[in-house]
Amino acid sequence: MSNLLTIEDLAEQDIESVVALWTRCGLVRAWNDPRADIALARSGPNAAILVARLDGAIVGAVMVGHDGHRGWFYYLGIDPTMQGRGYGRLITEAGEHWLSARGVAKVMLMVRQDNAAVHAFYQSLGYFDQPRTVFAKWLDGRPPTP
Ligand SMILES: CC(C)(COP(=O)(O)OP(=O)(O)OC[C@H]1O[C@@H](n2cnc3c(N)ncnc32)[C@H](O)[C@@H]1OP(=O)(O)O)[C@@H](O)C(=O)NCCC(=O)NCCS
Repeated sequence: MSNLLTIEDLAEQDIESVVALWTRCGLVRAWNDPRADIALARSGPNAAILVARLDGAIVGAVMVGHDGHRGWFYYLGIDPTMQGRGYGRLITEAGEHWLSARGVAKVMLMVRQDNAAVHAFYQSLGYFDQPRTVFAKWLDGRPPTP
């Protein structure tokens, strides 16, 4: 074991492992199809999935992208058996670097209001709470989801 974490773009053969990881992390919602989300993120230059590996095994992943103004993180997760070792900080920093390298000045992300553990995680990384209401609309006519 080298304990060396590497973080690189997702490769085609990583997709099922990353979906399984996100599922173990509790990040997959019934109304989201993570495979379709990965395909859309990989279809253009404004988004990517970064994958963290330890001795070849996938231990974390994040979807990072920008909309021409702000950067966003989605699906940021570290394998539950590997949490608390600093890997969440490292993959977050890798996402920040990905955005900075593309001229994006600010990164945003959404955390459910009652998720105190994840609030504490981001606060320890220098993130601040911005009181806003998030409005959303499914463009295929679906009713609102929680
Ligand atoms: C949130 C998550 C990515 C953190 O990953 P991690 O590898 O455990 O985090 P790290 O070990 O890098 O911790 C980084 C810092 O956050 C703090 N932190 C992490 N989890 C914390 C918790 N539950 N409560 C308080 N602080 C916490 C650590 O103390 C550490 O602070 P320090 O560097 O000042 O000591 C991980 O718990 C996870 O995958 N959770 C499930 C998925 C999820 O909810 N993702 C967020 C989507 S918005």
